[in-house]
Amino acid sequence: MELEQTFMNFLLHHQERHNRTYHFLILMDAIISAAKHIEHSYITGALKGNLGQAGKVNVQGEDVMHMDDIAHEIIIHYLRTTGRVIRAVSEESKDIIPLDEEGGRYFIYFDPLDGSSNVAHGLPVGFLFGIAKRNLDGPEDFHLRPGKDYIAAGMFVIPTGTLTIAFREAGTWRFHIDETMNYVKPVRITLPDTPDTWELSFNATNRYTYRKEVQEWVRQNERRYTFRYLGALAGDFHRILTRGGMFMYPAIVNHPDPKKLRPEGKLRLMYEASVVAFMCREAGGHAVDEHGTPILDIEPKDHHQRTALYVGSKPLVEDIANLLKGG
Ligand code: AHG
Ligand code: MN
Ligand code: MN
Repeated sequence: MELEQTFMNFLLHHQERHNRTYHFLILMDAIISAAKHIEHSYITGALKGNLGQAGKVNVQGEDVMHMDDIAHEIIIHYLRTTGRVIRAVSEESKDIIPLDEEGGRYFIYFDPLDGSSNVAHGLPVGFLFGIAKRNLDGPEDFHLRPGKDYIAAGMFVIPTGTLTIAFREAGTWRFHIDETMNYVKPVRITLPDTPDTWELSFNATNRYTYRKEVQEWVRQNERRYTFRYLGALAGDFHRILTRGGMFMYPAIVNHPDPKKLRPEGKLRLMYEASVVAFMCREAGGHAVDEHGTPILDIEPKDHHQRTALYVGSKPLVEDIANLLKGG
């Protein structure tokens, strides 16, 4: 029988090796509990009638699925129990959620259920999170941090049971769920250098809505790589981390229906783009926005701010970044 190291054991050693406190473990324990709970609700969701719409629209103007609400509630419950979180930003809450203003140590930014369009089908979704630390040396001035200030960022792919998490300057790691619902077997993830396995991932029906330079880049490059698109950033990016290549959600600037234009991009900076950009950097990759600016350098002005996103293997992202900067 082969038994594997658990995530919690890995993390304990990680914290000790870097002379860090155990506060982060208390937070991660809550995040893991939340993910397992969401996973269970998702697996049993069809039977309980939880895979439909909630009948309301969120702050983003998008239809809320019942599971979006359930996942949000579960995460907030577990975060509250830690006493370690100052404030939380969730895709499903218009306002920033105050939790433990006095004793809290971390800020957390999360997308409780990513890939809502897969929910009705029971197909893969995700839970994405980024974590920043309170300024312990003085008064806290600002809680909206750029991705480069995150101390960790990660995602669960649900219901397949993988956790991928990156720690600042300590790499990106993947864990799988075992028979006892423990995340186990740390494997360090590095983007493959050689283009043989690289994939491109974007919503192909949007291609003629991109700015001209991006359309031209697609035309010139698409045949070199395999194309994959699941419609859930967590799942699509999961593939890119293993196979290399690039996921992109460019700005939509040429749409006949003005309501469908997204000049700022679609994805949310704090709990989608910065989370995957952080994981990608720690795996040797890169991420930029529509101006070729590194995603991790963008200072958020609003907690629900959107951005265009190009994320993946460095040579590909740098190539498109040069073109974006010139445009
Ligand atoms: P969410 O379900 O959290 O709103 O996010 C959906 C996002 C992201 O997961 C995915 O990459 C993208 O929207 C898909 O958008 P399209 O349906 O426009 O391709
Ligand atoms: Mn999302
Ligand atoms: Mn979501």
